[in-house]
Amino acid sequence: MSIELTRIEEFALITLNRPEALNALSFALIRDLGRALDEVAAGGARALLITGAGAKAFCAGADIKELTGRSLAAQKQGAELGQATFAKLDRLPMPSVAIINGYAFGGGLELALACTLRIATRNAKMGLPEIKLGLIPGYGGTQRLPRVVGEARALEMIMTGRTVGAEEALRTGLVNRLIEGDPVEQGIAFAREFSGYSLPVLGFGREAVKRALDTPLNEGLKIEADLSTLAFQTRDANEGMAAFMEKRKPKFGDH
Ligand code: CAA
Repeated sequence: MSIELTRIEEFALITLNRPEALNALSFALIRDLGRALDEVAAGGARALLITGAGAKAFCAGADIKELTGRSLAAQKQGAELGQATFAKLDRLPMPSVAIINGYAFGGGLELALACTLRIATRNAKMGLPEIKLGLIPGYGGTQRLPRVVGEARALEMIMTGRTVGAEEALRTGLVNRLIEGDPVEQGIAFAREFSGYSLPVLGFGREAVKRALDTPLNEGLKIEADLSTLAFQTRDANEGMAAFMEKRKPKFGDH
């Protein structure tokens, strides 16, 4: 199976499992990933972690061997399949974290960009090298990268195809943290920083920030007013504010 879905305590873990091809995204793998994301959506985990099997790569991108010689119609369908699969991450009821444990190129970086947050090992190397193949990114990279690092940096990465190291990725906001030690353990430690909070309220926060990036300010502020009001009417908000007043730790129950 090219995708492994496991559970570690309250977390779902998806491992891209084609280490012999640096976890490249074959179409079979993308379909398996889509099914795994559907399972995660229904599975009640507090967060989803995604990583790559083996010590070398998170994911080396679309499977170039499969791309070669395809018809235009098949190519368009492939791009739409990749985009639709990665878009499932936005709709998950829980946040997702890409644990970039080595190479994340092309579609591999696009998958990481579709996650809520990204952490990387110090040996991680990232880039959108499609231009070197005579291509541009097709699984969301041209849209999500500028939203994460800004237009100028995104254009530079897409136009030069150059490789970005872990330190630069941290400095530019491409990743949130650098990690040392076991990547999955570090991913869990990172996820624990938010996973104890109310899941629906975390969802409202994610939604509000996502909308900020494609909405004029005035409309975005209205969305924030609506979503913060929805948060306010949850039982978790009552509990959080009551716990503050009573000087105790809140017990959130996802409502
Ligand atoms: N597709 C298919 N197979 C791949 C692959 C890919 N993207 N990346 C690596 N592999 C395979 C290699 O062909 C090799 O298999 P064989 O031994 O059978 O030849 C195996 O994985 C190991 O790879 P290397 O020997 O190349 O390993 P390396 O350590 O020398 O180099 C690398 C690592 C720099 C990541 C190099 O493999 C590489 O440049 N890979 C391609 C990266 C790339 O261009 N990605 C973008 C793909 S296009 C895309 O993603 C479009 C999109 O927007 C969706």
